[in-house]
Amino acid sequence: MPRNYKIKWFDELESTNNEAASGSGYDNLSVIAAVGQTRGKGQRGNTWSSEPGMNLTFSAVYRFPEGDFPAGRQFCVSEAVACGIVGYLKRSGISAMIKWPNDIYVGDRKICGVLIENRVRNGSLTCSICGIGLNVCQTAWDQSIPNPTSVSLECGCAPGDLKQQLPLLLEDIDGYMSVLPSDHKELSALYRSLLYRRDAPHAYRDCTTGETFRGIIRDVTEKGTLLVEDGEGALREYAFKEISYIL
Ligand code: BTN
Repeated sequence: MPRNYKIKWFDELESTNNEAASGSGYDNLSVIAAVGQTRGKGQRGNTWSSEPGMNLTFSAVYRFPEGDFPAGRQFCVSEAVACGIVGYLKRSGISAMIKWPNDIYVGDRKICGVLIENRVRNGSLTCSICGIGLNVCQTAWDQSIPNPTSVSLECGCAPGDLKQQLPLLLEDIDGYMSVLPSDHKELSALYRSLLYRRDAPHAYRDCTTGETFRGIIRDVTEKGTLLVEDGEGALREYAFKEISYIL
């Protein structure tokens, strides 16, 4: 039985993540969606650009009672959101993979970006703001945007009305979110099975040293770090921002 998300649409916001984090007191399962964002936030301090009215840009708010969700397991939220998005795309006939930690790729093109902002108190996760930018109808981007794609481009169809699609996407995400933090084993296995570039040699940059190397993604740890086997067969462990993919 799907839980009851409360979706609030805005014509324009600076960033749905910022609105969700504002003093407005959005409670558990609130969803802030915007037709357009003026300063959408991406990962690594980047901006997220999305043509107004063409894509889904929204943030879902999850609140957890203090003591329920150990902070050490917060990566499960990334897993749940990413697996939910992949599931939603699958129902549209699109086979997507997860580029660690939570970009969603179709082949070598990015269809969706996720920015999760967590609040931790006394060792437990108390709030997670899950910001999602899914390219739906957009078919052209500024040249500065690396390798984008969209639902329209991938399935050659015109997806239904964005406002009707959002509850369907939330339902897929909630299938995984609603069982956290207790039931995470199956989810973690699914996440790992969907990892982009897993078990195949590719080029990476170690951002801590600047070194470019060929490596093989082997696994992701429970805390969410990436394990990459290097040319000498050694396993290197990377936190977010410590490694970049060379595409
Ligand atoms: C990335 O860099 O891949 C993450 C992009 C996340 C974009 C979404 S759009 C809705 C939400 N609000 C924001 O300001 N950012 C996220």
